[in-house]
Amino acid sequence: MMNVKLCSNLLVVFLTHTVSTQNIRLMDDELDPYDWSLYSFECPQECFCPPSFPNALYCDSKELKEIPAIPARIWYLYLQNNHIGTVTGKSFMNATQLKWINLNKNKITSNGIEKGVFSNMKNLLYLFLEDNELEEVPAPLPASLEQLRLARNKITTIPEGAFSNLENLTVLDLHQNTLLDSTLSSNTFQGLNSLMQLNIAQNSLTKMPPALPNNVVQLYLDNNSIEAIPANYFDAMLKLVFLRLNNNKLTDEGLPMNVFNISSLLVLQLSYNALTRIPAISVHLEHLHLDNNKIDNVNGTQMCPVPIPGDYVYERNVPALRYLRLDGNEIKPPIPFDLMLCFRLLQAVVV
Ligand SMILES: *[C@@H]1O[C@H](CO)[C@@H](O)[C@H](O)[C@H]1NC(C)=O
Ligand SMILES: *[C@@H]1O[C@H](CO)[C@@H](O)[C@H](O)[C@H]1NC(C)=O
Ligand SMILES: *[C@@H]1O[C@H](CO)[C@@H](O)[C@H](O)[C@H]1NC(C)=O
Ligand SMILES: *[C@@H]1O[C@H](CO)[C@@H](O)[C@H](O)[C@H]1NC(C)=O
Ligand SMILES: *[C@@H]1O[C@H](CO)[C@@H](O)[C@H](O)[C@H]1NC(C)=O
Repeated sequence: MMNVKLCSNLLVVFLTHTVSTQNIRLMDDELDPYDWSLYSFECPQECFCPPSFPNALYCDSKELKEIPAIPARIWYLYLQNNHIGTVTGKSFMNATQLKWINLNKNKITSNGIEKGVFSNMKNLLYLFLEDNELEEVPAPLPASLEQLRLARNKITTIPEGAFSNLENLTVLDLHQNTLLDSTLSSNTFQGLNSLMQLNIAQNSLTKMPPALPNNVVQLYLDNNSIEAIPANYFDAMLKLVFLRLNNNKLTDEGLPMNVFNISSLLVLQLSYNALTRIPAISVHLEHLHLDNNKIDNVNGTQMCPVPIPGDYVYERNVPALRYLRLDGNEIKPPIPFDLMLCFRLLQAVVV
């Protein structure tokens, strides 16, 4: 009797064990979308191929001078921080599924990029080429591209039509290059209908770019030498939320009345310019940076986007400004009382 009981206990334990490992197997198979037997784990000897992430290839920080032959299974390719000078079609012959390429921090010149090497990558979504030696925006590029990061190169030229097919591009980063007013024409950004973030900070512009895509949400133009903004410049940009123009040469004369009275705008940064007056803002603006200008007087009644005090019949009429920087100007405390009457949601004023 005892023996039988022990036996059946063991049997139960054994069965449970089998069932649970089977369950684990099944779950594993369901979670793992790759049939491992289909991949020959070909891996360039300079690189690291993580077995649990067969679509990624890590070749970063290996002092590489050339791009190795990229296996066909790769989607994500990390080549940053090497000494790579050229990008040729040969390396990518089999790599037709690439989605991301990170080539930041290399020595790639515009001449070093074989014509058409990127446009052949029909599935490419992200192309990162920051901190290289490019003099031109690489072209042609594949229409699939969603992010193009070209910061910290020596770009002075954008070939005609370089962006015109990039209907899905959402991020274009060109900051810290040497773009001139003459680099940009009214066609340069044409076709970028999905563009949400445009960064042209730290270039050599003295004028605003001639025509920007209408759907831009974040526009960064800091650290140029922009002196003026044309009237109605932002009128078609109905989705603009963040605008940075710090460290430029904007003067009162260069700013048409109401140019920053943009109802979608939440953040406006105009630090380190040459303004003596506070420009008109919309009731929706939440953050305003005007520090380090030449403003010598704040009149809350004039600055208020709605008449004060009595017209706040509806809550929605209360100006949304929460944060105001006015330090580094010629303003003497105290903060005028009418400023507080107007901006009732204000949480911080830096004077
Ligand atoms: C491309 O794949 C073929 C077939 O697997 C292989 O023989 C060839 O060496 C590969 N070429 C490159 C550049 O990876
Ligand atoms: C752009 O994105 C949409 C939606 O993801 C996709 O259907 C379309 O094929 C993409 N266009 C290109 C040219 O890749
Ligand atoms: C602009 O230049 C200033 C001063 O040189 C620097 O501190 C700041 O990081 C730069 N900002 C951008 C966005 O380039
Ligand atoms: C700002 O624009 C709004 C509507 O677009 C308008 O009602 C308001 O008068 C403008 N502000 C100034 C100071 O003109
Ligand atoms: C502020 O401006 C209003 C309207 O322009 C004016 O009536 C008022 O006297 C000014 N306040 C001060 C302190 O200058």
